[in-house]
Amino acid sequence: MVNLSEIEARAAAQMDAAAWGYYAGGANDEVTLRENRAAWDRLAIRFHTMVDVTARALGTTVLGQPIDFPVMVAPTAMQKLAHPEGELAMARATGASGTLMVVSTTATTSLEEVRAAATGPTWFQLYIYQDRGATRALLERARDAGYSAIVITVDAPLLGWRERDLKSGFTLPPHLTIANAVAAGSGHSRLPYGDEEGSALFKHLKALHDTALTPNDIEWARDITGLPVVVKGIVRGDDAVRAIDHGAAGVIVSNHGGRQLDSSIATARALPEVVDAVSGRGEVYVDGGIRRGTDIVKALALGARAVLVGRPPLWGLAAAGEDGVKEVLRHLRLEFDLAMALTGCTSVGELTPDLVVDA
Ligand SMILES: Cc1cc2nc3c(=O)[nH]c(=O)nc-3n(C[C@H](O)[C@H](O)[C@H](O)COP(=O)(O)O)c2cc1C
Repeated sequence: MVNLSEIEARAAAQMDAAAWGYYAGGANDEVTLRENRAAWDRLAIRFHTMVDVTARALGTTVLGQPIDFPVMVAPTAMQKLAHPEGELAMARATGASGTLMVVSTTATTSLEEVRAAATGPTWFQLYIYQDRGATRALLERARDAGYSAIVITVDAPLLGWRERDLKSGFTLPPHLTIANAVAAGSGHSRLPYGDEEGSALFKHLKALHDTALTPNDIEWARDITGLPVVVKGIVRGDDAVRAIDHGAAGVIVSNHGGRQLDSSIATARALPEVVDAVSGRGEVYVDGGIRRGTDIVKALALGARAVLVGRPPLWGLAAAGEDGVKEVLRHLRLEFDLAMALTGCTSVGELTPDLVVDA
């Protein structure tokens, strides 16, 4: 593989058109989807020279857990749309690649089965349901299954207006279920049918998700599980501080890959403000449009502890199952290693803000 676009094309050719639209698409006019990429491109690297870069260390820790390189797999729903092994293949490949997978609430495999298949650390991504009993049950199950952190996604009280799904009539094929929702007894194990009032997934979220989520829910989740909580979907310094003040161990600067509020700020632009506001009181991660080793260099230079990738591992999964995910992660690692060397850095700790300016 020369770059990730190649595996994206392979995945697109292999997947059902409606499912591909669900993976690839963003909200409304997809302004943010495009901007997430463009904003990384607009940053320029002021590289060092005359540095001995013969030996390079790519590893870091996230919430104290070592990972071989600073790229984690973002939570993405319904991975069996890409491959029959779905989340199980993703978990095996991520562990074999030396990094961490965040497992979605909206998985097509139960959280216990994913954890049992995992060969590396896993965090559980939680959507807070209106039914707090069902939500508590998810948290207890994640704790008991051996997840090491909870990631609460806060940018999806309702689903963004995803026009590709509305046009394609996207829904989950009959042989797949939203496995965790089945166990939570939500009565929404299957997606309803979409119409002009909203896509199938839009209706699923509207029926289930709690639009009254507040920072107190961070403490609630932490107290139930005894696990560190990371808040995902932050693009402002003040919200990051609210999360940290309510017990979050970290935040993920994210706009959901451009799938929620269209025209929301690109994550590369939002990152410095959040890093500054958090001021070392928690870890800051970022996702959205990370496709190149140089994007990872820029993100870490701007203060991210690590990045997450959402769509690229799905491309790998669709193209070649477990091996495809490994190929994607191996390629990102290779690009990052090269970009670090050419930046004149030998470890992630040397990636500092002075390395990046607006292009
Ligand atoms: C198909 C798909 C499904 C997603 N499902 C979830 C989810 O269930 N929970 C969540 O917090 N984020 C979800 N996300 C958002 C990702 O975690 C992540 O924020 C985003 O994909 C990062 O952008 P990227 O795809 O450009 O790397 C999803 C993204 C995609 C593309």
